Amino acid sequence: MGKHSRPLEEPEIQGLVFSAYPRNVEGVYLFLQVADPARARRWLRGKVTELSYGSPIAPGPRQNLALSAPGLEVLGLDGASLASFPLELREGLREHDGAFRPRTLGDVGESAPSRWKWGGPAQPVVHVLLMLFDSEEGLPLLLEEQRRQFGGALREVYCRPTRSLPDRKEHFGFTDGLSQPRFQGQPGRGPADELVAAGEFILGYENEFSQQPASPVASDSPSARAHLPLAADGQRRDLGRNGSYLVVRELEQDVQLFWSTMCQFAGELPPEQAKREAIWLASKCVGRWPSGAPLALAPERDDPALREANSFDYSADPHGFQCPIGAHIRKANPRDSLEPDASASWKAVRRRRILRRGRSYGPPLAPFESEAVRQERGLMFVCLNTNIRRQFEFIQQSWLNNEKFDGSYEDQDPIVGDQTPDVGSVFTIPQHPLRRRLVGVPRFVQVRGGEYFFLPSRSALTFLSELAPVAVSERGPARHAPELAVS
Ligand code: HEM
Repeated sequence: MGKHSRPLEEPEIQGLVFSAYPRNVEGVYLFLQVADPARARRWLRGKVTELSYGSPIAPGPRQNLALSAPGLEVLGLDGASLASFPLELREGLREHDGAFRPRTLGDVGESAPSRWKWGGPAQPVVHVLLMLFDSEEGLPLLLEEQRRQFGGALREVYCRPTRSLPDRKEHFGFTDGLSQPRFQGQPGRGPADELVAAGEFILGYENEFSQQPASPVASDSPSARAHLPLAADGQRRDLGRNGSYLVVRELEQDVQLFWSTMCQFAGELPPEQAKREAIWLASKCVGRWPSGAPLALAPERDDPALREANSFDYSADPHGFQCPIGAHIRKANPRDSLEPDASASWKAVRRRRILRRGRSYGPPLAPFESEAVRQERGLMFVCLNTNIRRQFEFIQQSWLNNEKFDGSYEDQDPIVGDQTPDVGSVFTIPQHPLRRRLVGVPRFVQVRGGEYFFLPSRSALTFLSELAPVAVSERGPARHAPELAVS
């Protein structure tokens, strides 16, 4: 892997690929719809220089921008160029309840797209996602300024403010953002064996198949020639190079239900002991303790000294006595534990990695606390990959939602699995002499919105901002219904 990979063109690659900007505690995701394509293109032209590229060096406000397939179309990208995008991106998450994608991702019941707050089939189509990150003081001003800038050109469909929780926690109370793949060429990279080929996350670089990921192409035009490199076919222009695909899913977390369920499973115990037992059970579900210490290294009790630890595997724990096979982190990244052996497993897993860039929203609620009126809180799940089907969708469908994952019999991911409504799922904790089974684990996380986006490079953004207004004939020949034979 990587022998022929070329250096990263950092100034071309949006900064979100390199960092989740942890120093900027406030963030906002603005989901926008183009109201006036010509003005929106002008706005985009101005944005190109304002966005962040490369790995961040100094602190300060950051902006990144992504476009959905309908967004690319409304800006004026022609049909042939649009068709060169992967099917997942073109279809997006706008499908109706019960269609293929919602079923495979587990967007059913309360999480069905018809109930979403944004991005569902009945809601206004999202064209542009503008992501703003700043300090607590800076963000309101930045947001106000942006609203002023796009006013008239774009209309706001949905706005989701986020705020990082203290100590890098997510709402259930566990440290998040610890295990991230390092990609080739990334500054500050770790030991060689941890590296994943850059082409798994950035288009235009070799991937884990020693191949260039399929990149979308733009039809030849003077503007395409001016801004985009030649595509592999030697005729069209490479629109994808230095870009990526972004998955955004709003995942609401029911913290009260999570901890009350853990307490129920803990059983009748004196209060302090019940809490300890509930934390132990919850840690088994996650695969790490609240501090972040992995169960694979700290099987008995939490050890904050190991909170950042990420160099571990499951070789000493094939049956999940330390970290259950169905634990969230083991399902989401089985490391060395897949059949037939460790080296094959690592290789397979490197082809299923994602860069997680999500942020929490809503006020915190501490474990075991309750609130009279339930507040909205959760995770804006954001991840980057170059093949949504092979990476994000595979993890969600074939690992997290798969009851038969890695030899388990009936275990859903207890954190984000699509547990059967009313019945719940099973979570197995292997133990001597008898395993423990949590039966009827409810769904703690509901999907409230989602969409797939293209995160273009700086040059691709410039090209898109210079697209010519779409003439009707450029949309391709009108489709006619086949004529009925008249007998
Ligand atoms: C509200 C929903 C979610 C919560 C609360 C959550 C929580 C966590 C926590 C606490 C960790 C351990 C810390 C870390 O390694 O960063 C983790 C790791 C991880 N999660 Fe999630 N997660 C959620 C959704 C998802 C989804 C939807 C996916 C993918 C489809 C996912 C994929 C991963 C991956 C790949 C890891 C790293 C595992 C490893 O490499 O060891 N998570 N998550």
